[in-house]
Formats: sequence, structure tokens, C-alpha cells
Amino acid sequence: MLKAKMCGIIGYVGEKEANDILIAGLERLEYRGYDSAGIAVTHNNTISINKSEGRVHNLKKEKLDGTIGIGHTRWATHGPPSNKNAHPFTCNEKKFVVVHNGIIENYLELKSGLHRSGISCTSDTDSEVIVHLIAQAYGGNLKEAVCKVIKHLQGSYALCVMHKDTHELVGARNGSPLLIGIGKGENFFASDASAIIDYTKDVIYMNDFQIAEIGKNLVTVFDFDGVEQSHEIKKIDWNLEQAQKSGYKHFMLKEIFEQPSVAQESLKVTFAIRKDFSRIIFVACGTASYAGLVGKYIIEKIAKIPVVNEIASEFRYKECLISEKDLVIAISQSGETADTLAAVRLARQKGARTLGLINVVDSTIAREVDSVVYTRAGPEIGVASTKAFISQLVMLYKFAFHLTENGMSNDIVDKIKETLKLSESIRKLAEQYYTCQNFLYIGRNIHFPLALEGALKLKEISYIHAEAYPAGELKHGPIALVCTEMPTIAICPQDSVYEKTYSNIEEIKARNGKVITIATEGDERIRNVSNDIIYVPKVDDIFYPFVIAVVLQLFAYHIADLRDCDVDKPRNLAKSVTVE
Ligand code: F6R
Repeated sequence: MLKAKMCGIIGYVGEKEANDILIAGLERLEYRGYDSAGIAVTHNNTISINKSEGRVHNLKKEKLDGTIGIGHTRWATHGPPSNKNAHPFTCNEKKFVVVHNGIIENYLELKSGLHRSGISCTSDTDSEVIVHLIAQAYGGNLKEAVCKVIKHLQGSYALCVMHKDTHELVGARNGSPLLIGIGKGENFFASDASAIIDYTKDVIYMNDFQIAEIGKNLVTVFDFDGVEQSHEIKKIDWNLEQAQKSGYKHFMLKEIFEQPSVAQESLKVTFAIRKDFSRIIFVACGTASYAGLVGKYIIEKIAKIPVVNEIASEFRYKECLISEKDLVIAISQSGETADTLAAVRLARQKGARTLGLINVVDSTIAREVDSVVYTRAGPEIGVASTKAFISQLVMLYKFAFHLTENGMSNDIVDKIKETLKLSESIRKLAEQYYTCQNFLYIGRNIHFPLALEGALKLKEISYIHAEAYPAGELKHGPIALVCTEMPTIAICPQDSVYEKTYSNIEEIKARNGKVITIATEGDERIRNVSNDIIYVPKVDDIFYPFVIAVVLQLFAYHIADLRDCDVDKPRNLAKSVTVE
């Protein structure tokens, strides 16, 4: 079974100084992990390494000379974050360096083998063995040495390897993303295009079981037996501006404010999928899975087709009762999430048709599903997903309407815009509540997934404990938590379940709970049961998730910012979860 870990890798070979290119690239890849960072550059046949625990900016204290090098930003799996566990790793004679993204599952066995030959590893990682094995296998050709070594590696990897004397880098991919950037007189390896988009928009997405050699005027791709393979150069269709903060304090805030244009863009998507399935199964993780849950309510309501929403990490290990009559839809921003990818592979094995709703173009899941529809959110940099969620919702609604042959109105774009104007008043509210330690989120029906999403946003960026429940479930246990110290965010717009949620809020008030209600503008009655109210614009019942999501994102954002949290890079998280 393949597992993979996050981490970002980069390689540069050309005529410019590699140091700054590698560091700038790693800063863009920090969303993949930020426990430690390092670069290695070779110059005058000598490899220099600069690596350190913590963020990439720590590398700026030193400058390495040379025009060829590799770099790594780490999300720790084997061995805690520390200098000794930071990549790149070198061998005893410092002739080779390696950076690795993935997990080498048989590293203990390989380590013992090395030990028997008198070679000891200095780190606790699974990655270091690779460099020692390459040093052992080397007979004058780096690519051939890498080909020999990868035959012994079990697990997953994207690797980048450099020799002190050569002018080429070698990269290999099996289970973790790796692309080649094609420049003029310079070429790159990178985990994703954001790292190299300053220099080129021409890329080759490497496939699993491919190895590549790049020099400043050379790009050759091989299979794992060293047989040359053809490759396709693709153009990246987004620009750097889209991947910068543009004056916002955080990427997350910028991305929240981009949502009207993202929704506009996603609305343009059309589906051309055969409707001959009897059931839909969503597979996704985290926020994408909550989008799937909204999709379930909406598709069942509008299209009357049964939908199962499966958390990908559960789906892949339980009895898989699916068949060729099912349509399995993978929802993923990154298109790299290991559990979602594994769920897709399983679904395909069982003969089900697979569709991907994916943001990152040409990502692994996008390439493995039978058909893909891109959600068009543009690059999402903030670790907490916001605009990708809105684009996923648009897709799911469009899909539901497609199934009934109806069109979807585009009023939601203006309603999202209107909702964004609440940012300042939500900040004032956040000032009252940001010191709380616990929050409860409740909603009914289509608002239950929104409660889950609101609680997730708050937990992950502010580190406040938050729990979400269907409002009707409160009295079956969680209402025991209600007290003056645990405010409740109640999602209660004027829709078909308004009266029911209203009663649940009354039950909380009767037990001295504080309630912040998200309500429809003009609803005066809701004041009777609320301590504070956030009024959202009136929309048709089914479209409330679009405006409520924005309120929940802004509430979590302002609370986290007031608590001085690292909003874009919350502790322990990484944007692309390629570990199962
Ligand atoms: C939360 C968040 C995560 C992701 C999840 C799936 O804000 O971003 O829960 O939604 O890790 O990631 P993708 O969509 O890339 O598969």
C-alpha cells in the first residue's frame, strides 16, 4: 500500500545563482510543510548545504554560491522537526545530495543493510537511506545509479538528486507529485508549479514510475528501466498575481474576498456526463467532504437521486459495496490528497465510474479519474480552504441542476459580494468572543454541513475547540455542554426548518447559553433568542450555504487574527495532505 507525506521539493539548473531561486521556490511550497527547510548547491565540485529547523526564511542568513542546486521544505513524519532531520541529506563523502517527498516504507531494512556495510545514518528519517544507497550504486552515471536504487525502495516518493561534479539533476516520481519546469537555458524540478512560475509557464507533469534528467539545456524523461519516454509540455494558465497577497494581510482573507469572482468563474462550468447511474458516492476529506455533504442534501432534494457522502479515509478501509451502477465523485482542491486518491483507485477497481471535481489542473487525482471537471478557484495558498469550498459548492449545485436539465441562477455572486461587506461588523463581534475557549455550532438540514465547516475553520486557524451538531441532536447529549462560557453559533436563516432551529435556540437560551445567530436580514423575531446576530442577505432557501459560508469564514478569520495566530500556516497542518 502506498503512503506519502507532504513536503515540497525543488531543483534548479541554469546560469543564475541557484540560492535565491531555491529559497523563493521553497517559500511558495511552504504550504506543503514548514517544519524544517534546506538547500544544497554545488560549486567548484563541492556541495554546500544550508538547512535548519523551522521556516524557509531561516535559510536567508546564509548564501550559497553555484548555479545548480536542490531544496526541500519538510512536514515531519519520521523523526521530529530538527536540524538533523532536515533535508537535503548527503552521504559520508559529501558527493551526493538528495531531497525526498514521500515515505520509504522499508527504510529500516535498508538502514540495517547499510549498517552491515559500515554506513550509518545520522538522522531519524526514512529519507536518508536513499542518498547512501545512491553513493553505493554510483558507477559514473547518476541516472543509472538512481534507476538501480529505486528498484529497492518501497513506498512513495518524489526525489531530486545531485552529484557534486555533474551539471545535471535527476528526479524520480512514484506516488508523490513532481514536475519539470522548462526554461530558456535553465530547467527546474518542483512539487508544484507555484515554485517556478516566476521563471516559466511550460511544464511537464511527471507520471508515476518516471525518472528524468535535467541540465540547463537538457530534459529527458525515462521509465524506471532507463528507457527514454516521450513527454508532453503543458502551459500553466494562471499567473503569479493570483498567487500573491495583493495588499491583504493574509492569503486567507484575500481568498475569502475573491469568492464572488471565483463563483462567477465556476458558474461557467458545464457538465457533459451520462446520467445512467443509480447512486452517487462522494469521496473527499475535510472541507471538501463538507462540500460533499451539502451536495448530498441538494442532489437528493433537486434531482431525487440517492447520494452517499463518504469520508475518503473511512471509505478505503471498509467493506466497499459499490458497483458499475455507481458514480463515484472525488472532490479535492489539491487533487493530491492521499485518501481521496486511494478511494478513487478503489472505486475504479470495483468498476464504478469516477468523476473528479478538482481545483489543481493535472494533479494526480485529476489524471486518474475517468472524467474531471475543474472547479476554477485559482491557486489557493491559505492552508484553510475557503474559495475552493465555494467553488466546490457551485459545482455541486450545477451538477444537481444538470441532472434535472435545469439551469442555475447566478444571483449568488451578488449575494456573496453583499455578505463580504459584513467583514468589519464580524470583526467587532469577534472582538467580544475571541478569548472564548469553546464554541458550539448548530444547523439543520443543508446548514448542518455548514456548521461542520464553520467549526473546522475556527479550530484549525484559531486553535479554539469547536463542535458542530445537527441542531436537533443537541438534546441527545451535547446540550449538557451549554453554559455561559460556551457560546453557540446558530445557523438559522428563514427557510423551511426555521421554526425547528428557532426552538433549539430557545432551549439553549433557557440554559443560560450565549447565542450568536446567523439569520436572514429583516428577521426581528430572532432577536428574542439571540445575544448577537449576523444578518445575511435573503436568498432562495437552497442558496443560503453560499452566504453563510462567507460569514463563518470571516468569523473564524477575525478570531484567529485577533489571537495573533499564523492564519495562513496553522500549526501542525499542511495544505496538501498526501499522507494517509
Ligand atoms: C480545511 C482544509 C482541509 C482540506 C482537506 C482536503 O480548511 O483545507 O480539510 O479540505 O485536507 O484537501 P483537498 O481538497 O486538497 O483534497
